Amino acid sequence: MSRLRIALAKGRLFEPSVARFRQAGAAIAENGDGRKLLIGSSDPSIEFLVVKPADVPVYVESGAADLGITGTDVLRESGADVLEPLEMQFGFCRLVVATPAASPYPALPGGVTARVATKYPRLAQASVEVAPLLNLSHWIVDLVDTGNTLRANGLVERATVLQCSAVLVANRASQKLKLDAYLDLMERLERVSS
Ligand code: PRP
Repeated sequence: MSRLRIALAKGRLFEPSVARFRQAGAAIAENGDGRKLLIGSSDPSIEFLVVKPADVPVYVESGAADLGITGTDVLRESGADVLEPLEMQFGFCRLVVATPAASPYPALPGGVTARVATKYPRLAQASVEVAPLLNLSHWIVDLVDTGNTLRANGLVERATVLQCSAVLVANRASQKLKLDAYLDLMERLERVSS
């Protein structure tokens, strides 16, 4: 069977991703001092590529990795053209518009145009287009999980831009060229993701 290279994101999705693959029979190998990027697994047909979250869609779209696990936020922001065969049922969070509690919302006084601070410029822009209410500015568009970060900074949620979770993504060509390995892995992941 063909070998599959899976891109995993460092950060909050890493441990739950590794846990799902372990349950699916592909336990990631020990990684010494953590500097190795390409890491084998207990399943000789599966190896992992550990990269920055924003790089997962890029590696999968280009075919440098056959599959990957990424967040819907990062995936939509990237605009990558990949398959999305499976929602992983973890990593739930939301991308929201937030403002200081005392700020008027959605309109700013004096017809001032709002400025938005965000790591998601495309999604923030798109949200303006689909929801005129989001007359963004002096606001942030950011990810919320527990809400602790917003609270700690005196910010309140005003609108949800996107519901997010972890999703399995696949390279379009790999899915065809390595169909047997792909279907086999998909079946194993579906079993541990429901
Ligand atoms: C995210 C996000 C918020 C925080 C929200 O950052 O940017 O800062 O988590 O989580 P909370 O609602 O549970 O407080 P993350 O920790 O992923 O790091 P990053 O800023 O490097 O993306």
